[in-house]
Amino acid sequence: MSSAPIYEVDLKKFWENPYPDLKLMREKNPICFVPQLHSTLFTKRNSISENEKKIDIFSSVQPGGLMTTLMGENMMRKDGESHQLERKAIFPSISPKTVKNIWKKDFIKNTEKILYQMKRKEKGDLIKDFALPVSAEALKTVTALSNMAFTEMDRVSQGMIDGIANISGDPLIEANCHNCTQSIDNHIDEMLPIIKKSPNHSLLSVQHEAGLSETQNRANIKLAISGGQNEPRDAIAGTVWALLKNKNQLNLILEGKSTWLNAFEEYSRWISPIGMSPRRVAKNAIIESIEFTKNERIFFMFGSGNRDEDVFDNPEVFNITRKLSASLAFGAGPHFCAGAWISRCLIGEVALPLLFKCFPKIKLNQNYGEVKFTGWAFRGPLEVNCIY
Ligand code: HEM
Repeated sequence: MSSAPIYEVDLKKFWENPYPDLKLMREKNPICFVPQLHSTLFTKRNSISENEKKIDIFSSVQPGGLMTTLMGENMMRKDGESHQLERKAIFPSISPKTVKNIWKKDFIKNTEKILYQMKRKEKGDLIKDFALPVSAEALKTVTALSNMAFTEMDRVSQGMIDGIANISGDPLIEANCHNCTQSIDNHIDEMLPIIKKSPNHSLLSVQHEAGLSETQNRANIKLAISGGQNEPRDAIAGTVWALLKNKNQLNLILEGKSTWLNAFEEYSRWISPIGMSPRRVAKNAIIESIEFTKNERIFFMFGSGNRDEDVFDNPEVFNITRKLSASLAFGAGPHFCAGAWISRCLIGEVALPLLFKCFPKIKLNQNYGEVKFTGWAFRGPLEVNCIY
């Protein structure tokens, strides 16, 4: 355990809304030990950004950690050269050029189909009707798992997220996680021979072509699914909610004074879909006068850094005209989100503009009251009921 001052949280309250606690941490003890999370938390934006790059101290390698045990050793749990090698291997699948020239047209085609289905409905939950299938269809395209139903994509993603958060070791959650990773493996078994014969830009294909082992390939596909489904899903639904709640911001876009992309990026700063990234202390060290001991766990709290008052003016306010270069929504170190360009295109250039074009009168369904958000590691709305 580090020498950082102790800050106690009520886990239920923290899950419902971590922002009041995070604000107090930033004010009083920006690096603090939270006994309920068995971890030391970094909460200030610039401290997170600086320390995330010190991979000799704050390592991504976490042998025996839940992610590695349940999903295999993926690139998010590697450092230095072995990480770079895999990151380079997937570049042809995630690069801005591939997104623009290959994926964008598929994203548009899939989204138009989903909107066509929605046209038959007068109202519904925007997550189920739109955000979830848009996100899952994109992930099916990018991973090569076109043989998977979009509902299954969402299920297996959630099952893995629950599995890696299962610190208390609930056997049912663990069994469900195994079931989800097995489902992904079964779908990979079916698609691998096909893409070996006809290579394409998918993650499965480019990793195989780059010579990564099947074990590496499968682990990184599971990583992309665990991190690439619920974040775009929650960001799409959350951004729509934020724009419908703040009509002045929506009008800025409709009047050409701001963009859908700005709205997505500002939402992701304001309510970060990934609020935290864990690291293992690789060696004893003193950082910002705090002593850290080898093998203890720390959390870089992106969701807190994104509300840092020293970096963002009125950080609690959703303002799509603010400068966002300091945002940590996609991370700030060598593990900077591999799906960032995919997400910007999918959400900022396809999902949001097409939704508002198709449903210009869309509004929140007041019969359902306030939209509820949960989570501090992964955060998003539970339902966004709308009248289309
Ligand atoms: C709103 C959308 C998304 C958000 C907010 C998001 C956020 C993040 C964050 C915060 C990290 C960790 C960064 C760090 O520790 O420094 C990350 C890593 C990663 N993300 Fe995303 N993500 C999104 C969408 C996606 C999508 C769609 C994919 C895949 C198609 C994806 C694939 C990955 C991968 C593979 C990594 C690990 C990269 C590495 O280890 O080098 N993400 N993401």
